[in-house]
Amino acid sequence: MRHLLDIFDLTAEEMGQLLNEAVRWKANILKGERPPVFRGRVLGLIFEKPSLRTRASFEAAMAQLGGSSIFLTGQDAGLGVRESIADFAQVFSQYVDAVVLRTFRHATVAEFAQHATVPTINGLSDEAHPCQALGDLLTIQEIFGDLAGRTVVFVGDGNNVARSLAVACGKLGVRFILSSPPGYGFPDEFLRRCQLAVPDADIRQIADPRQAVRSADIVYTDVWTSMGQESERKQRKKKFAAYQVNAELLAQAPAHAKVMHCLPAHREEEVTSAVLDGDRSVVIQQAANRLHAQRALLLQVLPAAAGPSGQSSRQAEAKP
Ligand code: CP
Ligand code: NVA
Repeated sequence: MRHLLDIFDLTAEEMGQLLNEAVRWKANILKGERPPVFRGRVLGLIFEKPSLRTRASFEAAMAQLGGSSIFLTGQDAGLGVRESIADFAQVFSQYVDAVVLRTFRHATVAEFAQHATVPTINGLSDEAHPCQALGDLLTIQEIFGDLAGRTVVFVGDGNNVARSLAVACGKLGVRFILSSPPGYGFPDEFLRRCQLAVPDADIRQIADPRQAVRSADIVYTDVWTSMGQESERKQRKKKFAAYQVNAELLAQAPAHAKVMHCLPAHREEEVTSAVLDGDRSVVIQQAANRLHAQRALLLQVLPAAAGPSGQSSRQAEAKP
């Protein structure tokens, strides 16, 4: 059994395989193929925060291939409130084949995984968003045909999305530059962990966004105020004011550079509508790829459903 709590949990090789599977399955799914390889499999989702992309794409990935899902809000689950995380994780593991958790505290996902007897996937915590990073790499690979040697410039908060993407990029030879106001860059502890886990990673920080985007293949941004930080919104709007991804900033980037955003966006804060809806934006393709990357992840973590002959239905029906 394998958990995905953080992108650190995957090797470069595993990420490469996962992307290959995502490409292969995406092509087949778009042709209309729906082999029931998740027949009889149940995915549990526990979300303490709202979600469109993560929740709906996981549920769709299960339903398309014959599986099903159970969704519980944070209030339904009451992790650590209604009952202990350990009790919940052990009991829920008896009902489902894998669990996706979206939590406020990263420690909640980690504690859940410690007690779960089925794979636990982080669907966003305050420290990491590994599923987003997998979908994003798939998108970058689709756009350029390759990953190694590309440069992603993330303009904004060095938070969950930026951290997971930096590590994912580092593992696959993509240079990652973070441009954020003082106090909102990567924490030293995170950088130390990167240094130990991915010593070859090219992760830089350049405070000036105009300078940072000059070598960008991708200009990426995320909200300045993440879910759970709402009380800091006014202060953050001031601190991040010079870090808006707008036409003027984009003019400093190479002409071929594309714009990415994990969504949901706070339009006219971190990104203008003109840029988000403009012809350099790939955000809808990016959101679609959450489904394709997560399907590939589920194919790795869920046990294959047994077919009539005892042969796994994945072997029988999932032809390349
Ligand atoms: N990008 C992302 O995770 O979106 P949701 O919050 O809608 O799941
Ligand atoms: N950084 C954002 C990402 C949302 C997908 C948040 O945590 O709210």
